[in-house]
Amino acid sequence: DESVVRRDRFSGGPARAFMSSLAADRRIFAADVAVDRAHVVMLDEQDIVESDTASEILSALDAVEADGHGALPEGEDVHEAIETAVVGRVGPDGGKMHTARSRNDEVATCIRYRLREDLFAAIEATLALREALVEVAKAETETVMPGYTHLQPAQPTTVAHFLLSYEAAFARDTARLVDAYDHTNQSPLGAAAFAGTPFDVDRERTAELLGFDGVLRNSMDASSARDFLLESVSALATHATTLSGLAEDLVIFANKGYVDLSDDYSSTSSIMPQKVNPDTLELVRATAGDAASGLSGLLTTLKGLPRAYNRDLQRATPHAWDTVDAVSEATAVVAGAVSEATWPAETLESAAADGFSTATGVADALAMAGLPFRTAHEVVAAAAERAGDGTPDLATLDASAEDVLDASLFEYVSRADVERALDPVDSVASRDSAGGPAPAAVAAQLDEATAELDAH
Ligand code: ARG
Repeated sequence: DESVVRRDRFSGGPARAFMSSLAADRRIFAADVAVDRAHVVMLDEQDIVESDTASEILSALDAVEADGHGALPEGEDVHEAIETAVVGRVGPDGGKMHTARSRNDEVATCIRYRLREDLFAAIEATLALREALVEVAKAETETVMPGYTHLQPAQPTTVAHFLLSYEAAFARDTARLVDAYDHTNQSPLGAAAFAGTPFDVDRERTAELLGFDGVLRNSMDASSARDFLLESVSALATHATTLSGLAEDLVIFANKGYVDLSDDYSSTSSIMPQKVNPDTLELVRATAGDAASGLSGLLTTLKGLPRAYNRDLQRATPHAWDTVDAVSEATAVVAGAVSEATWPAETLESAAADGFSTATGVADALAMAGLPFRTAHEVVAAAAERAGDGTPDLATLDASAEDVLDASLFEYVSRADVERALDPVDSVASRDSAGGPAPAAVAAQLDEATAELDAH
């Protein structure tokens, strides 16, 4: 019979292993069984396949599922192998399962079905991380620490303000992943190879059975599109990039003794017995590289592909699995490391004034007294130069004012105001603009973050 001849013709040859995705398809084995079931139920309801045959196929699918991916016969991919296993149990009528569909709409449906679950887990991981950041931030609103630009001491801030800066970025990462989820959660099933089918399929019904939000309206788009992979991996790579920034900050802070990482998230050296290394966070940094390579692999694979299905698409999918696994795991590791870390308040506060990081506050105090900010900046810059590495005292500041203004500093501001400006704790407390580090401003940020997390 002709199908045997065709199978023979395409069944062997040295390129067989090269063409097969069966091993990689382990990931979508359960998805394929679910998609087969939904399709067969719909074929039965639409009187495309007799109910008895549909029941036999569904029983066979139960058995195939119970036996697992490892028990599948050989095949070019999981779709073909499951079909072969079903035909093996039901006989030739088992082949009715593949009525009114193609592996092209089938595989696209399977990937979307499975990726949906993985994106959901990734989203949950970002939410757990944000909760961890909020928890620690709540306890550290008064913990003053140095803030940096260009890795140079810049202005004092608090640990809570620092941590919530990442929470805010992770909130956008979550939103991007949710968008990717929404675009993934659309059903291609019923598109067949790309050109639809003469059978009276009910695409809405299979979409509903599989829990999709809707159907992709154009069958050529439905079987060809992989932009949902691109969007997902892009959102994951962006998230991994945010994670890598936090990881790097923690590595630097650990180096300076500004944060104590738990042993659970550290490693030691095989030769240097004293070492406690921030290995987990270094691996998180590297994960951003993996995610970026997943994204570029995907972009490069998809670029310039013509309509409709091309086998290149088989190689696109693993980029998404690799990326979602790596990034979800890294997210959970960072959540753990953040929850377990401790912030040595005294060390942080004494470091907070290093490098005359209160200089901007002194200039602000002069500007509040009526001096143009640019002139105030000049006075304080002159004092900084006089003081060398350290923080200028009142006399030095006054001498600089005499140089620049031909007047004493204290004609403009009181000694008490300057002293307050020079104190890192007071400096932080004074910066209570919306979004700022003052404990009251941070409390508002905490409220907003908590409300957003509660809404998820
Ligand atoms: N295994 C293929 C993939 O992952 C699906 C099969 C479609 N094959 C085909 N020759 N049209 O994309």
